[in-house]
Amino acid sequence: MNPDEPQVPPRPTALARTLLHEVIQHGDTVIDATAGNGHDTQFLAECVGPDGSVLAFDIQENAIHATSDRLREAGLASRVRLYQTSHAHMAAHAEPGSVSAIMFNLGYLPGDDHQLTTEAATTLAALNAATSLLKPGGTLTIVCYPGHAEGATEAAEVETWLTTLATSGWRIARYALLGTARPAPFLLVARKSGT
Ligand SMILES: C[S@@+](CC[C@H](N)C(=O)[O-])C[C@H]1O[C@@H](n2cnc3c(N)ncnc32)[C@H](O)[C@@H]1O
Repeated sequence: MNPDEPQVPPRPTALARTLLHEVIQHGDTVIDATAGNGHDTQFLAECVGPDGSVLAFDIQENAIHATSDRLREAGLASRVRLYQTSHAHMAAHAEPGSVSAIMFNLGYLPGDDHQLTTEAATTLAALNAATSLLKPGGTLTIVCYPGHAEGATEAAEVETWLTTLATSGWRIARYALLGTARPAPFLLVARKSGT
């Protein structure tokens, strides 16, 4: 396959970016809940422009260094605040109703320790915080990886939790490949009610 050709259907991570690119405005405040190697943080920093800001969280020192290096090389470091702490603490760093988009890319850092993966309990705590930080009309994206044991438990709990938001007026959706040999990664999207 030609690497320059867009993948169709898109990967969940690419689809999350396509959707957020439509909704994030210059000057917005947004959150990357799982900075990892910084690809999503860089994408978000480009979306918010020079007057916007990105808060990015990761528990791993490696991830914070990798993200910091990537942002510096791209000339985007001034738009991003990096926190080496759990995303469960994100509410300590932003005002309720002030954030227009929050990205979660669950799982472990590719090429690193697979034990350092996101876990259902902290992910759900962070997602609850995220619902308060988002402004009306704000968007939440979550990429889940049910192909490994912890990921399968986490993905099921996150999906169940997200479904409950529909009763409070959120619009929610799930995007996934069909007919794969192993459970495929999937994207959950939630839009907070209001304008
Ligand atoms: C799939 S990677 C993220 C990839 C990243 N978005 C990128 O674009 O490169 C998942 C990341 O979540 C981080 N993580 C695990 N538990 C976390 C937690 N409680 N809070 C914040 N980050 C966490 C891992 O250290 C790992 O770097």
